[in-house]
Amino acid sequence: MVKSPNQVFFCPEESQFYAQCLEKMVLSQSHTTDPIVEFGAGDGSPVIRALLNSSFEGVVQGFELNFEASQLAKLRIEQYGLGAYYQIHNACFFSNAPANARYLIANPPYLPAPDNQLYMPSLHGGDDGALVTKQLLAQGCEQVMLMISAYSNPVDTVDFALQQGYEVADFMVTPLKFGYYSCEPKVRDSIAKLKCKRQAFFSERIYFLAGVLFRQKSAATVCLSEEFLKVMTAL
Ligand SMILES: C[S@@+](CC[C@H](N)C(=O)[O-])C[C@H]1O[C@@H](n2cnc3c(N)ncnc32)[C@H](O)[C@@H]1O
Repeated sequence: MVKSPNQVFFCPEESQFYAQCLEKMVLSQSHTTDPIVEFGAGDGSPVIRALLNSSFEGVVQGFELNFEASQLAKLRIEQYGLGAYYQIHNACFFSNAPANARYLIANPPYLPAPDNQLYMPSLHGGDDGALVTKQLLAQGCEQVMLMISAYSNPVDTVDFALQQGYEVADFMVTPLKFGYYSCEPKVRDSIAKLKCKRQAFFSERIYFLAGVLFRQKSAATVCLSEEFLKVMTAL
């Protein structure tokens, strides 16, 4: 099966960082076998990598809209013998994920653009890139680990999370070069406009991508929101 960037998300640097965030902040921390739900599994490689590097014994239920990506993910899971730990559903997360899920993970679509006529339409994150992220934060899960880009209105996103009763319990940040999807002219144009409104933060070639663990306030012990925003708005 050929991996096409129009069909199956392909950005190894980003997927590897998502895998590291999953491993360090989610799978190695969970002393529970509570199921985890994943929005947008892609080709499955981040969760597979994180599972191989941790001793997590629960189940991750991955939802992936794209058929080719979900088939690739299923194949890889089988190759690694991880079928008992990672299950893929070729379905929309919002209409099919279990309503009572307590733990949600995602590297969601976060490309800002006026419409979804993009190289890969399913990466569209609304006008400011934060639309899907906010929809995920509104699901009411106890803990949510999301990838957040500094060019997709991160300050407003954290404010929204706080309004939903979350605190930032942990985060990891990496610099990434603008790549195939984020260099699309329509996206660059939107990002430039957001920068003027202080809703996007980046330098000419680099932006920060963060993995952020949000936890409902009642369960959180430390709040790192301010420290997180200091890093994300630094460029
Ligand atoms: C940024 S990619 C991340 C893929 C993978 N998790 C990774 O990090 O390599 C986002 C993925 O979300 C999927 N997606 C978009 N909307 C979705 C929805 N409503 N339900 C399930 N998956 C969705 C896209 O098809 C895409 O594969």
